Amino acid sequence: MGATLALIFTGAARAVDKPTTTQKTCVTAECHATYAKKPFVHGPVSLGDCKSCHEEVDAKAHTYKLSREGRDLCEYCHLDQTTKKNIHEPLKTGKCTDCHDPHSSDSKALVRGKTIADLCAKCHETVKDVQFPHGPVAVGECTICHASHSSDRPKLLVDEPTNLCFSCHTVTKSELSQFEFVHEPVPLPCIGCHNPHGAANPKMLKADAPDLCYACHKDIQKVATTSKHKHDAVTEKGGCLHCHTPHASTVQFILKDAPMTLCETCHNEPVKTEDGQPVPSFTAQIKDKKSLHGPVAQKNCTGCHATHGSDHFRLLVKEYPQAFYAPFSTDKYALCFSCHPESLVLTARTSELTDFRNGDMNLHYVHVNKQRGRTCRSCHATHASDLPKHIRESVPYGVWNLPIQFQKTDTGGGCRPGCHQPFTYDRKTPVTYPDVAVVRR
Ligand code: HEC
Ligand code: HEC
Ligand code: HEC
Ligand code: HEC
Ligand code: HEC
Ligand code: HEC
Ligand code: HEC
Ligand code: HEC
Ligand code: HEC
Ligand code: HEC
Ligand code: HEC
Ligand code: HEC
Ligand code: HEC
Repeated sequence: MGATLALIFTGAARAVDKPTTTQKTCVTAECHATYAKKPFVHGPVSLGDCKSCHEEVDAKAHTYKLSREGRDLCEYCHLDQTTKKNIHEPLKTGKCTDCHDPHSSDSKALVRGKTIADLCAKCHETVKDVQFPHGPVAVGECTICHASHSSDRPKLLVDEPTNLCFSCHTVTKSELSQFEFVHEPVPLPCIGCHNPHGAANPKMLKADAPDLCYACHKDIQKVATTSKHKHDAVTEKGGCLHCHTPHASTVQFILKDAPMTLCETCHNEPVKTEDGQPVPSFTAQIKDKKSLHGPVAQKNCTGCHATHGSDHFRLLVKEYPQAFYAPFSTDKYALCFSCHPESLVLTARTSELTDFRNGDMNLHYVHVNKQRGRTCRSCHATHASDLPKHIRESVPYGVWNLPIQFQKTDTGGGCRPGCHQPFTYDRKTPVTYPDVAVVRR
């Protein structure tokens, strides 16, 4: 560097003698020392090339002006910084030095601020006081996702939002491409559910489930919140996510696991309804039982239960009498008749419809089809029992558990219940009953 480059300034705060023109550099122990000391020094400054930006006005007075105006000062060397469609506002209206220190800085890219995020925070409150900040945001890396000068995409993004997310969240990406069942909105931008910067909810969610999900699933919202019988698992905070994954799954309906397994995470022990009524453990009802009801053996709970909410007791999908006695009508048994034929109970005489018959006398008809009919629950346990045809072991009767003592034979069966004398039935050699009316207690 020749003498022409020996630029000196009035700006020195310390009381030193005016520099002489023989001095070789502007950065000495006394003058402008700090410019070269910060971790990041601008190229021309480290070369001592002050003249590329400062032009001498008056050597004696040690005054200088900037060599070029506005952006030209910098774009003289850095060409056009705003080649893309969408230009960051400060590059339209301000100066490069609003964001960059022309000499040196404590952070990369010569930005003004300890980190890039500090710089952005001077003008944007985007991430102020966010309880759950996003990883890259928390460490100040705004420019992993945003171009600082200009971009062809909205919001100065460096890529399509979803691609951006995939660039780091490879697990989510592979789940979406590999799992059979994918949540339909997920190929849409992830930012439909997540705030890219952070949020007041865990996982940067814009809202917690179920509200997050209700935003699109109005039909489920209606069932869940207006049904006579609601299900805590659905309506409580975090709701839907007890059973569903938000993105993709190997199980249909993007369930987290097989439905029955999910139910048993809570119903492996007794719980209580809203109004304090006990809900017995489901697991205890089927554990080690010899005879499981068909759909239960198939682990199918939704054939009978409307998980999201129902107007029928115990979240049943259809009508089923709650008591042990009920005047008969087919619609009261809509639940059972959705899989079993009504004729089971409508036909007085049959030689094939049911095995619960004495000769051709249909004992289902006899017990169920009348004003004070026995409901199915009087004889059958719903989920499982140790007796064949999941016949109940006992019936609650006041404070007493009335035993049924059912026994099956090759051609019939019999019981010795507490409610009437022992009875047997036989399909081949019908038993003669003294008076069928005794069956009616
Ligand atoms: C890339 C252009 C550029 C280079 C190179 C440059 N300056 Fe500057 N300098 C500026 C700008 C622009 C300002 C106006 C203040 C601001 O925006 O920070 C400035 C201001 C100054 C000031 C006024 C006080 C201050 O810090 O604001 C001094 C002193 C100064 N420069 C010294 C130097 C010295 C010494 C060199 C060479 C070692 C140098 N400059 C190299 C652009 C430059
Ligand atoms: C005389 C040419 C010249 C001028 C004028 C100039 N620069 Fe530079 N700038 C350079 C050189 C050389 C580098 C170093 C390039 C490198 O390291 O790849 C650089 C690097 C930078 C960097 C990157 C630093 C980093 O850590 O990556 C920024 C930011 C920058 N300049 C901003 C500015 C700004 C703002 C102005 C206007 C105030 C400006 N430059 C004016 C030559 C110039
Ligand atoms: C709103 C603040 C802001 C303004 C205004 C701004 N920059 Fe930058 N600039 C940045 C940030 C932040 C980075 C660092 C980007 C990163 O981390 O990759 C950067 C990076 C740079 C770099 C480093 C190389 C690169 O492109 O990554 C150069 C050179 C640069 N700016 C020059 C300029 C020039 C010239 C101007 C004025 C025309 C300007 N900047 C205006 C914020 C700004
Ligand atoms: C000097 C002030 C200033 C700084 C520093 C600044 N911005 Fe901006 N930014 C603005 C203004 C002004 C707008 C336009 C008004 C608005 O959208 O808020 C804007 C807009 C934006 C937008 C929205 C663009 C759009 O298309 O809607 C993004 C994204 C953005 N800035 C990101 C950043 C990032 C990242 C940083 C830090 C690298 C940063 N800004 C630093 C002033 C600034
Ligand atoms: C993981 C990527 C990512 C990071 C990191 C990131 N942003 Fe964003 N930012 C986005 C996306 C995506 C949008 C668009 C949001 C939308 O359209 O709803 C956005 C939008 C913005 C906007 C426009 C206004 C708004 O809130 O929608 C500003 C300003 C902004 N970001 C600033 C920042 C600042 C400052 C940082 C660093 C503290 C930062 N961003 C870090 C992805 C990111
Ligand atoms: C630069 C890499 C990067 C990009 C890009 C990125 N993330 Fe992240 N993300 C992270 C890191 C690092 C964490 C913190 C990891 C952790 O806590 O397990 C994180 C955490 C998250 C979390 C919370 C995870 C948890 O277990 O609490 C969500 C949700 C998330 N990111 C969504 C997104 C979305 C949506 C986008 C796109 C807008 C995105 N990420 C883009 C790196 C990234
Ligand atoms: C329909 C809303 C929704 C959409 C769309 C969505 N997410 Fe999520 N995401 C969630 C919910 C809810 C959680 C929390 C899951 C939990 O807590 O069990 C989550 C959790 C995450 C996590 C934390 C780790 C995990 O898997 O639990 C990451 C990372 C994540 N999402 C990334 C993404 C990415 C990337 C996209 C876009 C491809 C995306 N999300 C789209 C709702 C969504
Ligand atoms: C942005 C809108 C949107 C949000 C938010 C949303 N979903 Fe969806 N979801 C859809 C659309 C669209 C479908 C496909 C059509 C349908 O089945 O209704 C769908 C389908 C589903 C399905 C059926 C999947 C299948 O394989 O049939 C389930 C289960 C589901 N969403 C659960 C959730 C849960 C849980 C949440 C909250 C974490 C949620 N959704 C949030 C839009 C959304
Ligand atoms: C206790 C477990 C459980 C919870 C909690 C749960 N679901 Fe489901 N969901 C299921 C099961 C099981 C199915 C599939 C069987 C069916 O209902 O036909 C399903 C099916 C769905 C379907 C697709 C079929 C349909 O009915 O449209 C959507 C959409 C859905 N759920 C959304 C939600 C939303 C939204 C929430 C939270 C408000 C939620 N689920 C809470 C277990 C649950
Ligand atoms: C996250 C825990 C949880 C999961 C998972 C769960 N439940 Fe529940 N369930 C409860 C709680 C707590 C109650 C009692 C409060 C109430 O009625 O909502 C309940 C009540 C019930 C009731 C009785 C409702 C009434 O009003 O009498 C039925 C039936 C039921 N659940 C069936 C299921 C089925 C079927 C599944 C699986 C698809 C399932 N539950 C999964 C927690 C859960
Ligand atoms: C054939 C119809 C049917 C099927 C299939 C079924 N349930 Fe039930 N469930 C009922 C009926 C009816 C009740 C009401 C109590 C009763 O009458 O025994 C009930 C009650 C419940 C209750 C409340 C506790 C109780 O015993 O009253 C839970 C929990 C429950 N079922 C869970 C399940 C689970 C988990 C599955 C799937 C493995 C399932 N159910 C399959 C009909 C069924
Ligand atoms: C979702 C369909 C479905 C519903 C609803 C249903 N069942 Fe069943 N039920 C079955 C299947 C499947 C079998 C097994 C048939 C077989 O193995 O031949 C079965 C078998 C039975 C058996 C005979 C068990 C055996 O070992 O042969 C009885 C008793 C029974 N169900 C009673 C009922 C009662 C009472 C109701 C109403 C509360 C009902 N079912 C509702 C599907 C259903
Ligand atoms: C009074 C006791 C009793 C009542 C009430 C009762 N059942 Fe049965 N049910 C039986 C007996 C006993 C068998 C076993 C017959 C055999 O295999 O010998 C049986 C068998 C069945 C079977 C197996 C197929 C068959 O008919 O052999 C089905 C299905 C069935 N019952 C459904 C129902 C339904 C649905 C209801 C209510 C509408 C009901 N039962 C009410 C005692 C009863």
